[in-house]
Amino acid sequence: MKIFKKANLILMLLVLSFLNGCKGKKQNDQKVEQPVKVSYSEEELYRPNFHFTPKNAWMNDPNGMFYYNGYYHLYFQYHPDSNVWGPMHWGHAISTDMISWTEQPVAIYPDELGTIFSGSAVVDIGNTSGFGEVSNAAPIVAIYTNSKQLEGEDNWKQSQSIAYSNDEGKTFTKYENNPVIDNDKIKDFRDPKVSWDEERNKWVMVLAAGDKIMFYDSKDLKKWNLLSDFGQGIGGHGGVWECPDLFKLPVLGTDESKWVLFVSINPGGPNGGSATQYFIGDFDGTTFTMDKEFETALNKKHNYWIDFGRDNYAGVTWSNATRKDGSKLMLGWMSNWDYAQKVPTEAWRSAMTIAREVQLQKGDNGYRLLFNPVKELDSYRSTKYKKASIPIKGDTKLIDSDAIDLARVEIKFNISNLIDEGFTFNLTNKQGDSLAFGYNHSDKNFFVDRRKSGKIAFAEKFADRISTAPRTSLNKDLSGTIIIDKTSIEIFFDNGETVMTEIFFPNAPFKKLSIKPEDKEFTLSKIEINELNFN
Ligand code: FRU
Repeated sequence: MKIFKKANLILMLLVLSFLNGCKGKKQNDQKVEQPVKVSYSEEELYRPNFHFTPKNAWMNDPNGMFYYNGYYHLYFQYHPDSNVWGPMHWGHAISTDMISWTEQPVAIYPDELGTIFSGSAVVDIGNTSGFGEVSNAAPIVAIYTNSKQLEGEDNWKQSQSIAYSNDEGKTFTKYENNPVIDNDKIKDFRDPKVSWDEERNKWVMVLAAGDKIMFYDSKDLKKWNLLSDFGQGIGGHGGVWECPDLFKLPVLGTDESKWVLFVSINPGGPNGGSATQYFIGDFDGTTFTMDKEFETALNKKHNYWIDFGRDNYAGVTWSNATRKDGSKLMLGWMSNWDYAQKVPTEAWRSAMTIAREVQLQKGDNGYRLLFNPVKELDSYRSTKYKKASIPIKGDTKLIDSDAIDLARVEIKFNISNLIDEGFTFNLTNKQGDSLAFGYNHSDKNFFVDRRKSGKIAFAEKFADRISTAPRTSLNKDLSGTIIIDKTSIEIFFDNGETVMTEIFFPNAPFKKLSIKPEDKEFTLSKIEINELNFN
């Protein structure tokens, strides 16, 4: 027995030393793999590099956007005491280029008329309001909704109020005769967007009232006259109408101009939850009338959405910033009421989309708005990866993070002569998370699939589907611009005719980008990946 034990012991020692030897050899022969970092702070992993987020607490809609003395101003629905929605204030941020934002102190606080819901702000150059006190400076006038909770959970009073600033939008004084539009009848009555009507020399307001938009005008921003309404039974009505915008746009390459009406709805978006639709028509100073062709197309097909992704809501334009070519500038709230209050960040909740230029084109498929990232983003480009004519036969790696930080990139790609090819881009990490997006030729849909993109279980509706967007362009060649910033992807297909914006929460940064064909091989004509740097 003893002898057996001794022999056993010797055998065990021999086996152990052999195994040890193997281990040593393996280490010498093989390249040592970098350990996979498994723990990240919320800040490292999820705070966007170049999309606006408040330092702390809850944010929703963009509000009061105007441009003055070299600064773009962005106010936002803000609940400074919590990371979920609550009594609303207007937070504030400024930027010289709509990309790098500096947060400012809270600009407007709740008062006895209620909390401060969404609205707009204008630069009152002619001092039509009489609020101006500083010579050579225009007063800034904010027009917003006061929302007051009445008895009962689902019962509130919403009226429109104004406040003015004589220090370029830093601080506001409330008008003593608020509200300027009172209301006891309509339950959802909010989000005034005011702009200067150059043709008729007056202020025009669009206001969401349940299932329609109401139009008002004013000479002094204090006294408002109801003009007309638009929208009952027209377009998407899956939910309440909110956050309208009205502006005029030139039709690219023509002398013609058209009026554009944005209407956000929640729920009822094309892929669930909140989204923003648009209408093209004319405004004669009193009434908005849809363009006949547009109306026919609207009745026949689908609604028109500024973004088919699930995360672009309540977007409106800067009230007085228009490019030389007439395009307008806008941004939206990059989240969705279906899950915004549950996303896996604690310190802050939500970001804004990248600022976008809005143009109008008329092609063989009728009027379409085009949305593209503002050109100011170009000056942040640094390391570049560029390749042409890449045959895509199977899963093909395009780049990994050793070359470029995929958590902050702009990708431009072209595929010529797309007939019956489809493709899937995949962003992946070593933890097994993947974000897929691309084009399905069988149903002619663009898509974003975040079902395996990392943390998805925080809300049932976050990853309950693949988001899709019908391709409307009749072009054979397909182009795309993709903006990725840690937790968001914004895809501008066909020169911005179809846009998809979605957020995601990977367990570690995405490190690799690959592309594969749907079934038929094809050639990626061009791809350019630009890292975006902000220091
Ligand atoms: C849209 C909205 C607006 C409202 C605000 C309240 O997201 O519901 O209609 O003014 O948010 O925070």
